[in-house]
Parts: sequence; C-alpha cells; structure tokens
Amino acid sequence: MPKRSREMPKRPMSREQAERLLREGTFVGIELIPWASNYTFAASLMLPNGDCYMGIYKPRRGEIPLYDFPTGTLYRREVAAYRAARALGWDLVPLTLIRDGPHGVGSLQLFIEADEQFDVLHDPNLDHAAVQRLTVFDFLTNNADRKAGHVLRDCDGHLWGIDHGLTFNEEPKLRTVLWHYQGQPIPEDILSELEEFATAPGRAEALRVELGELLKRPEIEGFFERLERVLALRRFPSPGPRRHVPWPLY
Ligand SMILES: Nc1ncnc2c1ncn2[C@@H]1O[C@H](COP(=O)(O)OP(=O)(O)O)[C@@H](O)[C@H]1O
Ligand SMILES: [Mg+2]
Repeated sequence: MPKRSREMPKRPMSREQAERLLREGTFVGIELIPWASNYTFAASLMLPNGDCYMGIYKPRRGEIPLYDFPTGTLYRREVAAYRAARALGWDLVPLTLIRDGPHGVGSLQLFIEADEQFDVLHDPNLDHAAVQRLTVFDFLTNNADRKAGHVLRDCDGHLWGIDHGLTFNEEPKLRTVLWHYQGQPIPEDILSELEEFATAPGRAEALRVELGELLKRPEIEGFFERLERVLALRRFPSPGPRRHVPWPLY
C-alpha cells in the first residue's frame, strides 16, 4: 500500500472537508493496489489549499467481469452501500461517491488509515456493538464478500467496512466471515435504530430515491424486504445451506 507522504496532514477532517476532497480534489497521483481483486487504486487527492489526502478509486473500467453481477455496476454498489449505511445512521462505511478520475467514472472512497494488526476474527477487545451493526448491515445489503480484511480499525478505534462492490444482488448471496452472533437476539438498541429508520416519515423513502440512481428496482426492494425480515425475526442471521463464507477469508 502506498504510504502517505510526510508532508500530508495526518487526517481529514470534517464531513464537509471530506466531501469536498472527494468531489473536487485534484488527482495528483494514483497507484495500483496489487492485492486488490479489481483495478483498484490508491489516489492522492489535493485540495485547493494544497493539502493532500488519500482516497480509494475504483474505476468502472477496471472491474473484472463476474458471472453473477451485472458488468460495470460494482462502483455503483460501493456508493449504494455507503448511502444505505448513512441512511441507517451507521457510521460504518467511509464516505464514498461517484467521481470521474484518470481512468474514467468510478467510485471514490475516503482512505482509512488502519491498524494493520487488527483482525476482526481474533481481536480480544472487539467492539461488539460495531461488529453487530456491520453484521446486520451485511445481511441487509446482501454482501457477498465480507472478508476479514474488509473490516478495518482506524487509529481512533473506529471500525469500518470496506469493499462493497458485491452487494445488493437480487439473489440471496450473503457470504461473510461475521458469523460471531449467528442466531442470537439482535440487541434492542440496534433494532430500535432500524425501526426508527423504517417508520420515521420520509427516511426510507429518501433512501429509495437515492438508491434509485444506483441500482435496479428489485435490488432496492430486496434491501427493504430484508429489513422487514430482520425486524420480524429480531435475530442475527444463521448460515444457510449454500456457500456462506467468501474466498479467501482475508
Ligand atoms: N477505504 C479504504 N481505506 C484504506 N484502505 C482501503 C480502503 N479501501 C480499500 N483499501 C485497501 O485496498 C485493498 C483493495 O481494496 P478492495 O476494496 O478490497 O478492492 P477490490 O474491489 O479490488 O477487491 C484492500 O484490501 C485494502 O487494503
Ligand atoms: Mg477486495
């Protein structure tokens, strides 16, 4: 992974600044991440005041075709996942938006400086509240690729999920390493957050509209159907008979 250069300020930043960086920052360099599955780039982005920060740029053109996801749609799923998390009030996905970059249109996500020792499968001091939300989030978004390496912990201890290109498929496809809580009751505070989202006037509708720019109607309705299911069952999902872990696990 390319390292932040020494003169870069440690980290952004207010939400507004982060938005501005991703929307308007100038691409001053991109570097291919060799272990990514697609053509994924670490991008240096510069603000008008000269400050530089990193983003993760995934151009549509660099998506490797898959048999089970429509070609050229993964970057939109990245953004859809961010919007869904945000709509739920869950700060679990780094700011992500659609941006034209050096290789054309794609997703651009805020770079998280992660603790390289962190491993969601073996951490003794896991932030269970965050992992539980991420677990529910993956079920709601039908995440087919929650590897352990896609759960990051930043230097403030905050957990983030990354790599949401394989979400919102019309077919059930949950493949995740987060089976820590399978079958257990979902804590009440998480359920109330979901209930609040589902019932507060306009909130669900606003997300439907936002997702309408990114996904097909049945993919969007699948999200809301799974939300209803979670609110009815009130338990974490259990693995089904199909393949339910990603490969590789990290
Ligand atoms: N927002 C991010 N912050 C920090 N590192 C990231 C971020 N997104 C991706 N990465 C790094 O880039 C690698 C490849 O990204 P990933 O999202 O898995 O791409 P791909 O869709 O190609 O699999 C990750 O394993 C991780 O090391
Ligand atoms: Mg990946």
